[in-house]
Amino acid sequence: MISVAVVGCGAIGGVVARALHEGEVVGARLAGVVDPNGTRGLPGMSLEEALAAADLVVEAAGQAVLADVGPRVVAAGRDLLVVSVGALTDDALLARLHGAGDGRVHLVSGAVGGLDMLRSAARMGPFETVRIVTTKKPAGLVQPWMSAAEADRVRATDRPLEVRRGPAREIAAAFPRSTNVAAAVALAVGDWDVVEAVVVADPAASLTSHVITASGAAGEYRFEIRNRPSPDNPTTSQVVPYAVLRAIGDLAAPSGAFR
Ligand SMILES: NC(=O)c1ccc[n+]([C@@H]2O[C@H](COP(=O)([O-])OP(=O)(O)OC[C@H]3O[C@@H](n4cnc5c(N)ncnc54)[C@H](O)[C@@H]3O)[C@@H](O)[C@H]2O)c1
Repeated sequence: MISVAVVGCGAIGGVVARALHEGEVVGARLAGVVDPNGTRGLPGMSLEEALAAADLVVEAAGQAVLADVGPRVVAAGRDLLVVSVGALTDDALLARLHGAGDGRVHLVSGAVGGLDMLRSAARMGPFETVRIVTTKKPAGLVQPWMSAAEADRVRATDRPLEVRRGPAREIAAAFPRSTNVAAAVALAVGDWDVVEAVVVADPAASLTSHVITASGAAGEYRFEIRNRPSPDNPTTSQVVPYAVLRAIGDLAAPSGAFR
């Protein structure tokens, strides 16, 4: 039985922590939840208590929290499951996590699939092109760095509008809550430079879609994912906490899991 602490009790962490608390993941139990803004009736604890009590710490709180808490988890010899994968556009943070100590760092696949195949294919040989096109409702794509005119144009569009296109690292950093997926694809293929990311605002997008296309030595791939947004946080897809629970289940009871 592994003991799991969840850092961040929002749209993702709240669902993960409750399922663990209710014994829904074989081989894992909730140690407690770390969130200064409340733990939704679940057992709360400080980060220090989490580092003492948990075998695995799930970060589901945001990029800045990962940068602060992640290295401390690894330094304490605890395993870390990263949900804010977009933070890893920062190579220095990834190096800090890997060098911090004995804890292992795991990344959650989150809102997308196909990462296993992309990793297999990248191992055979390099990709020539990889693209991820993310389409979601306009409101979640307005960013603080946009000019007032651009923000208005995104908010008011009555048809699909390409908001940005560029290298995955740039796009993931520019849309931190919406492009964890671009970072996940780049990390899966092991090459930030080959991955182009496109962000589209579509007022009719009741589902958030990600279309991943890739072509290289191993073949040609196309994955299309259409996720229902979380009722708690429309920039997060509802499936993400279940990707976290699957990952915890794989770590807790590894026999028979897909690898
Ligand atoms: N990997 C993926 O595919 C994927 C998909 C969606 C979201 N995400 C990322 O996951 C993260 C969480 O998303 P969410 O939708 O649950 O967000 P959310 O805003 O609903 O929840 C975040 C929670 O973190 C808490 N928090 C803030 N500071 C904290 C701190 N110092 N310590 C502990 N808790 C703290 C907040 O109180 C809040 O409850 C975000 O970074 C988001 O970008 C990843």
